[in-house]
Amino acid sequence: MPVTIGVLREAAPQESRVSLVPESAAKFATLGARVLIERGAGVAAQFPDALYKQVEWADTAAAVLDAADIVLTVQPLTTAQIGALRPGAVVVGYAQAHAKLAEVRALRDQKVTSFAMEFVPRISRAQSMDALSSQAAIAGYKAVLIAADNLQKFMPMLTTAAGTIRPSQVLVIGAGVAGLQAIATARRLGAVVEAYDVRSATREQVKSLGAKFVDVGVSAEGAGGYARELTAEEKAKQQEVLDARIAAADAVISTASVPGRPAPKIVSRSAVERMRAGSVVVDIAAEQGGNCELTRAGETVVHQGVKVIGPVNLPAQLAYNASEMYSRNLFNFLSPALKGGELSIDWNDEVFAQACLTHEGTVRHEATGKNI
Ligand code: NAI
Repeated sequence: MPVTIGVLREAAPQESRVSLVPESAAKFATLGARVLIERGAGVAAQFPDALYKQVEWADTAAAVLDAADIVLTVQPLTTAQIGALRPGAVVVGYAQAHAKLAEVRALRDQKVTSFAMEFVPRISRAQSMDALSSQAAIAGYKAVLIAADNLQKFMPMLTTAAGTIRPSQVLVIGAGVAGLQAIATARRLGAVVEAYDVRSATREQVKSLGAKFVDVGVSAEGAGGYARELTAEEKAKQQEVLDARIAAADAVISTASVPGRPAPKIVSRSAVERMRAGSVVVDIAAEQGGNCELTRAGETVVHQGVKVIGPVNLPAQLAYNASEMYSRNLFNFLSPALKGGELSIDWNDEVFAQACLTHEGTVRHEATGKNI
């Protein structure tokens, strides 16, 4: 029996992405899988039903959940949806396991094999499956557009008959995936860009994108290519230099994060108070608590004339490309386990082993297991 891959119309508010776009759906079908999609699943991402070929349709989410061996999602399933899964079903998508504990328990108790896209290891072989990266790049791009849209200034330098306009100064904090895309986007718009990251390895990447690296004299290389948390002394040193650069910026794009920790606080209230009125902070770490003391997730706070914007789910605002990329990540993750249309997971493969959240009635992900 070929495996049935189910795709739901995302039910979460503001979620316009779809987990499977027509291109990847056809590729799964070519591998012998049966693809069953809830009608209208791709509509919000500009993928109308007519674009999907070699797939079958269901009128309701319940019909998909009832028939699917594997369910692909963007947002985590609700506990009610998990309860409606077939015994032994597999779920692949974002899990938000640190926040959605009731859902993790439901996955465990329902004996669902669930894979969290957040836990796919960031190793070279898994780059094509790395949904955190593909979606963070979108967030970095979009953050700069939001900044440009909220500034009362041009980003580029302009030489006009009415005189010369100076370019905007953009400071990007955190030069990971989102930060590097933010730098590239701000540069394309003609801004003068500075960037800062605790990992010194980013210095060359920042420079290669045409931005200046802000040197604060602190390095915080951590395990697995991620940053470690800074000591109090290191934080103070970082702060002094950064505060001066923040004060000089028209737009600050903050993207700093440490895995498994709340977002580091880098832009203080007093630093915002030193910025010129009309300046903007776009804090894309808002959902993790924010890099700026004044950030409120999903809101814009105006403080002494400075806008502090805390956007959430930016990828959903670019749903077409975000879905394309996410869907390819899912295909690249799952396709090695599809042999002759059947599912066969190689548990010796570190990608499957590390991405696994629940399996056979247990929580496999260690850090999540401690919270349960
Ligand atoms: P990443 O791990 O690739 O990059 C984060 C960077 O922050 C790393 O280079 C790290 O060295 C740096 N960093 C850590 N502590 C720092 C400090 N104290 N000072 C300066 N830099 C520091 O992460 P990625 O994928 O770029 O994501 C960045 C953030 O954006 C995360 O918080 C993520 O959750 C968020 N995000 C938000 C979205 C939205 O819609 N608002 C969408 C996607 C991601």
